[in-house]
Amino acid sequence: MLEIKNLRVDFDSRRGKIEALKNINLTIKKGEIVGIVGESGSGKSITAFSILGLLEKNAQIPNGEITYMGQNLLALKKKELQAIRGKKIAMIFQEPMTALHPTMKVGKQLAEVLKRHRRISNKEAYRLAIEALKDVHIHHPEQVAKQYPFELSGGMRQRIVIALAMAAPPELLIADEPTTALDVTIQHEILQLIQELNEKKGTAVLFITHDLGVVAQICDRTIVMYAGEMIESGKTKEVLSQPQHPYTKALIEALPDGKDSNEALKAIPGEVPNLSNRPQGCAFASRCEHVMELCQRKHPELELVRKEHDVSCWLRRDL
Ligand SMILES: Nc1ncnc2c1ncn2[C@@H]1O[C@H](COP(=O)(O)OP(=O)(O)O)[C@@H](O)[C@H]1O
Ligand SMILES: [Mg+2]
Repeated sequence: MLEIKNLRVDFDSRRGKIEALKNINLTIKKGEIVGIVGESGSGKSITAFSILGLLEKNAQIPNGEITYMGQNLLALKKKELQAIRGKKIAMIFQEPMTALHPTMKVGKQLAEVLKRHRRISNKEAYRLAIEALKDVHIHHPEQVAKQYPFELSGGMRQRIVIALAMAAPPELLIADEPTTALDVTIQHEILQLIQELNEKKGTAVLFITHDLGVVAQICDRTIVMYAGEMIESGKTKEVLSQPQHPYTKALIEALPDGKDSNEALKAIPGEVPNLSNRPQGCAFASRCEHVMELCQRKHPELELVRKEHDVSCWLRRDL
């Protein structure tokens, strides 16, 4: 369904060129939930923005391909991409208010979006809006439809954003940290909801998070990113039970039970390298417990080391 090949994204900045993404290769099949996990600044959002043509003006894509249903998204005109955005591919973000109209009642907002995708009367659109609210498990949907976003809780708002995103309904939903701002119980409910919509409507999901625990709950496959590169990918169960990269292992070991894992990610000593001056060898070398001379000298590429399990680490190669 979606295929990203050798994607590279650079940013121009006053301090020179920032190599934000390097050699990203990923595929999403129909109906699948794929997770991207990594600490803040690892390039997760940039990957999502690249797909939808939402990168900022100072971004460049010197090489790479993004193919959606056989169409090269990077070659599309703004209008053509807009036609895909929202309709075929929808995106939700951490902060639901950014996707909501602050001065329009919830039911009307939903009805408007539903009308955009179907030839229906206002009355029918409103009826479908109520149905859409039920689909995202909002109790008393008639009542909520008459409210403004600011009158609702963060969890409720995110449900409404999901209902808006599902209006078409899309073939692919890109969810960029949609539960990060919510407390743990609500977070769990939203994850269940996304999983349910994936099963019921067959919508594929690209789920972006800094939280390995979240990935474990809903993703079929997981991609671990570090400093703008994919360092490990495979079936979620495999990656979590048989992690091959020292960074993935460190993430798993640092994972506290039920506590804030953003703190845990920071618990790995050292810092992410400067993206405008990337090290010659492995980007994780300066923080790696098992670093070898080769790691400093030569960059390891992502390679298949087990069945459907890719890793970029010299330790995992027969040298
Ligand atoms: N507009 C921009 N200009 C310059 N650098 C940027 C810009 N946007 C992102 N970056 C760089 O890309 C890195 C990855 O960003 P991002 O994808 O937002 O990380 P994540 O979502 O994983 O937290 C940032 O740390 C920053 O160095
Ligand atoms: Mg982000």
